Amino acid sequence: MIKTQEYIKKNEQRFLDELFELLRIPSVSADSKFEKDVARAADFIKSKLEAAGADKVEVCKTKGHPIVYGEKIIDPKLPTVIVYGHYDVQPADPLNLWDNPPFEPIIKNGKIFARGACDDKGQVYMHIKAFESMMQNNSLPCNVRFMIEGEEEVGSSNLGTWVKENKNRLNGDVILISDTSIIANDIPSIEVGLRGLSYVQVEVSGPNRDLHSGVYGGAVGNPIQALCEMIASMKDKDDHISIPGFYDDVLELSKSEREELNKTPFDLDEFKKDLGVDDVRGEKGFTTLERTGIRPTLELNGIWGGYTGEGSKTVLPAKAYAKISMRLVPNQSSEKITKIFQDHFEKIAPSSVKVKVMPHHGGEPVVTPTDSVAFKAASKAMEETFGKKPIPTRGGGSIPIVALFEKELGLKSVLMGFGLDSDLIHSPNENYGVFNFMKGIETIPLFFRNFTEMSKK
Ligand code: BES
Ligand code: MN
Ligand code: MN
Repeated sequence: MIKTQEYIKKNEQRFLDELFELLRIPSVSADSKFEKDVARAADFIKSKLEAAGADKVEVCKTKGHPIVYGEKIIDPKLPTVIVYGHYDVQPADPLNLWDNPPFEPIIKNGKIFARGACDDKGQVYMHIKAFESMMQNNSLPCNVRFMIEGEEEVGSSNLGTWVKENKNRLNGDVILISDTSIIANDIPSIEVGLRGLSYVQVEVSGPNRDLHSGVYGGAVGNPIQALCEMIASMKDKDDHISIPGFYDDVLELSKSEREELNKTPFDLDEFKKDLGVDDVRGEKGFTTLERTGIRPTLELNGIWGGYTGEGSKTVLPAKAYAKISMRLVPNQSSEKITKIFQDHFEKIAPSSVKVKVMPHHGGEPVVTPTDSVAFKAASKAMEETFGKKPIPTRGGGSIPIVALFEKELGLKSVLMGFGLDSDLIHSPNENYGVFNFMKGIETIPLFFRNFTEMSKK
């Protein structure tokens, strides 16, 4: 293992150069304009997995963007780790807010700036280089399969189908994922929960055409007004969601579980300062850590309609729209919540407008075990490289496919991520610390060794 670690340190510059090559490919899965680039990113992952020593590497076609599969089976009797990650990225807009172009990576103050630097190309690439390092130093202790997809940022629906159809080549013991964050570089942590997601777009229609807001205004229902009222009515004064049945299935935590969660290092003043807000806001009776970790939410992601261009146009618009996401917590079901939302939205619509609810993607919440061999192996690996035992945390984000891995493959995941909440994922100036990238590459081989050794007992 010492040799492997030396190899990693010696090759830092080359690892970074290769990651930069990947970051230069604008593999935006949401926008069909980038379809060829997404395919190019898949080919890049394939060639690097092959070069690192993986067998049966294949770019698997789907109805959407491809999945890259590869494996190294050294002995079927040994444990098998399935590494999951995604090579697709979020759109880079708004482009004008980037200090450097999003697909021209650059290192500043020890951080790699580029779309996907942290989410998830940087973290995926740690696995490929950790694998290369183990192969080169004969220290790969067990079997590994790689499953790197190109549609995580758009809901992973084709990966779900692919997993169901490829169960035979996905036998393994654990799913290892680096696509989450740690508390700080000197406070390592492992996320043990991810929220689920229901995502809908709503359309509110009023008159059959845009109207003169003077000639008709005051006498016809304005869809933007109706939409705003409907949205406003969905939370009460305590920021409690007032859709009937919304909280029915929520698994409440016990007092001691909540106390435990609130021991997680967190500085509210720092949090506010970082975001540039004077105050936080959320469901009454819960702390910020609880609001993002264990409580469901309803958020507006976008709202539009009418005239928003330069100057003023006097118009009473025909339509108004909003994109709304609901984050879900254990025991809530995405399908059920989407249905509850849809029924409620249709019910509260005033008679002067018509409404439509279009569900986008969804995903189920998960909690991962802390008493498993895999979790203990990850915890020990991080303790070895960070010098501190990682703290289990509940993350607010979603990785929809994790629940499906559990359902279809019967496999639990370990969320051994190395990002920071300050990495600006999905935002302009996304970045990833060189420290974090290298820490990940150093930690992964230790996970493999610990997991193999601890599985024997
Ligand atoms: N890697 C993130 C999720 C994440 C980020 C989890 C930070 C924990 C900490 C993932 O790529 C992501 O952005 N997921 C989406 C869901 C998807 C269906 C668009 C999300 O959470 O919004
Ligand atoms: Mn991600
Ligand atoms: Mn993401």
